[in-house]
Parts: sequence; C-alpha cells; structure tokens
Amino acid sequence: APPAIIAPSILSADFGALGKACSDTIGQGADWLHVDIMDGHFVPNMTFGAPVVTMIRPHVEKPAESLGKGTFDCHMMIAEPKKWVKDFKKAGCDLYCFHYEAAINSTAAEEPAATSDKKTSPKELVRYIHEQGLRAGVAIKPKTPVDVLYELLDSGVKEETPDMVLVMTVEPGFGGQKFMPDMMPKVQALRSRYPELNIEVDGGLSEKTIDTAADAGANVIVAGSAVFGAKDPSEVIAKLREAVEK
Ligand code: DX5
Ligand code: ZN
Repeated sequence: APPAIIAPSILSADFGALGKACSDTIGQGADWLHVDIMDGHFVPNMTFGAPVVTMIRPHVEKPAESLGKGTFDCHMMIAEPKKWVKDFKKAGCDLYCFHYEAAINSTAAEEPAATSDKKTSPKELVRYIHEQGLRAGVAIKPKTPVDVLYELLDSGVKEETPDMVLVMTVEPGFGGQKFMPDMMPKVQALRSRYPELNIEVDGGLSEKTIDTAADAGANVIVAGSAVFGAKDPSEVIAKLREAVEK
C-alpha cells in the first residue's frame, strides 16, 4: 500500500487564527491539510471559499513534490464542483476532491443524472481538474456504493483517472460525528482491486477507530476533532501514522 498520509481537518481549528493553526499542525507532523469546503447546498452547513484558502496558503510551505508535505487537500462538499476548480487552483489548492454525487448532476446533487440537462460526468471533471494543473480526488458519501467508481478507476486513461478516492465514514457536513465501521467493506474492496491507490477516510477518525480503518486498507487519514481537540496534537498525529504503518 502507498505511504501513510495524515491530513488534519482544519474544520475543527480556530477559524479566528486559521493561518497559525495551519502552520502549527504541519509543524506537529501533519503531511497534508484537509480543507473542508461546504456550500450550504450539497451539505447542510457552510464553511468558506477560495479567498480564505488564498489567505492561509502562505502559512504553509508548498509541497516540494506532487502530493508531498504541505499539500492542500480540498474536500469540495459543493453542488457545483466544476465551477470552482479554477478559483481553487489560483488560491493554492493542490488536490481538488469533488463528490461523485455532485458530479453526476452538477446542478441538483440529489436528482438522478438522467433528468439533468447539465450533466458533468465524473470522468470529464477529473480530466478538467488535471488540465488545470491540480490532482483530482473523488469522494463518496455513506449511501453511495463503491462500485460506481470502478469504471473511472479502470479506464486506463491517465488524464481521466483520479489520484485519490475518499470514502466518507460519516455523513458529510459536520466535524465530531461517530465513525461508521460499516463503510470498511468499501475500503477493503478498493484496496484489493487497487494496491497503489490513495484511499482516504474522513469522519470520526481517532486513536480509537484508526486500527479499523488501517486494517481495511486506508492510507490517507483525515482527523479533525481528534487532532485539534487534543492536548498534544503531535502525539495523536504520530499514533495515527503508526497505526497505518504497522
Ligand atoms: C465532515 C468533514 C470532515 C470533518 C471530520 O463533513 O468532511 O473532514 O472535519 O471531522 P472529525 O474528524 O471530527 O470527524
Ligand atoms: Zn472532509
């Protein structure tokens, strides 16, 4: 499996001192920053947009190599993922992770794709993200089965192949929710089919749940409340990494 990557979610950081929170967490051993973007449509909550990413970007050194330390992993919980790719590239995002459910219908996330006249296929969106010079991720919500991703991952066309898959382990929208172990079969299925794929898990990850996720085959670990709520975040980051590497 690919190396362990620990990506603290700044959703649980102090938004009043976000720049410092970002540089601190990298100093405490984090590899990436997981940046949760919510639009109040795709999920019932809002965070911030590209202008805030622009302001926090200088607080963290840009990755020396693709997906290296300092990567801004932007988790786009938004109804119109294609619309914001260029703005997030400009803001300093490195990895643009859109939701499959939003891409199959970029105007109304919950409507079946067939009824939409503005259909964006996930494949086209991955290609578009790559064309803008970003790495591309695809996220699935708990109710979305994993096999919808196989066509995309099996295409054999590099430009259309995602660099990461995010398996949500809570319903997206809020930090501090309970980890859903019943998502692990999705992770296992992906890991057995794709030994080299970056598989990210997000939601409810902590020292208590990390072994379950690591055993299933996840290598990119998002943790919000567990890291930012800790007395000693560096210890939590180290323990998450150990669990994945063991
Ligand atoms: C939830 C977000 C997560 C969230 C995780 O919609 O995608 O990244 O911050 O928070 P914890 O780790 O507290 O569950
Ligand atoms: Zn997230």
